[in-house]
Amino acid sequence: MSQSKLPQIDYFDVLNNRRSVFSFDPDKDLEDDLLRKIINKATLAPSSYNLQPWRVLAVKSQRMREKVYEKACSQQKVLDAPVLLVVLGDKDGYFRENPAWEVKKELGKVDEDKIEKIIKHNDNVTYNTPEKKLAFAIRNSSLLAMSIMLTAKAFGVDTHPMIGFKPDKIREIFEIEDKIEINMLISVGYHDSTHQLKPREERLSYEQIVTEY
Ligand SMILES: Cc1cc2nc3c(=O)[nH]c(=O)nc-3n(C[C@H](O)[C@H](O)[C@H](O)COP(=O)(O)O)c2cc1C
Repeated sequence: MSQSKLPQIDYFDVLNNRRSVFSFDPDKDLEDDLLRKIINKATLAPSSYNLQPWRVLAVKSQRMREKVYEKACSQQKVLDAPVLLVVLGDKDGYFRENPAWEVKKELGKVDEDKIEKIIKHNDNVTYNTPEKKLAFAIRNSSLLAMSIMLTAKAFGVDTHPMIGFKPDKIREIFEIEDKIEINMLISVGYHDSTHQLKPREERLSYEQIVTEY
């Protein structure tokens, strides 16, 4: 996508205006092309080794969203927003099956020997426990999730992230493999402006969250 076709919007406007929107307009659809643009830009998020161990389910069908709604604490936004994203992290995302390796190979950055060495190191050292593999999946896919929410806002689209759901039930609904961690759900659509947004909660300050050394 050429830069000129992108909305020219100030980064701080995006940051200030992104909200977790509770009321979505159920009559306002999200065009497929726009969803594609959001995701394709959001994947500029960084990931370890640029392996992008994230996957996304885009749940557009009302029938499937109804199934999720029942297992996501009956959160109305799951029904009202036209698209529900299920953001996934691949705990095995550093293995050779990941197509990201092929891209690195084509660029001449790695050969098969180097790939094998990196994978072995990851498996034996960096991600050698279930906890570390889980962290790998969650860290990387969380960066994608944030990027999706900001990119959506830059395109004038609203979102709401959710972890209020039963992971096992969501896994069942979409037949998600065990190696895949369900990170979060994100409702995507347009705020129903007849419902006012609640005032935004203050954030903790630099002094409260930063320790300087
Ligand atoms: C990981 C994560 C999980 C969340 N889960 C839920 C949820 O299940 N239900 C909900 O209503 N809001 C959920 N939220 C939204 C937060 O409450 C919201 O982001 C926070 O209050 C700040 O508001 P803002 O996003 O409008 O700035 C979640 C947010 C994050 C980042």
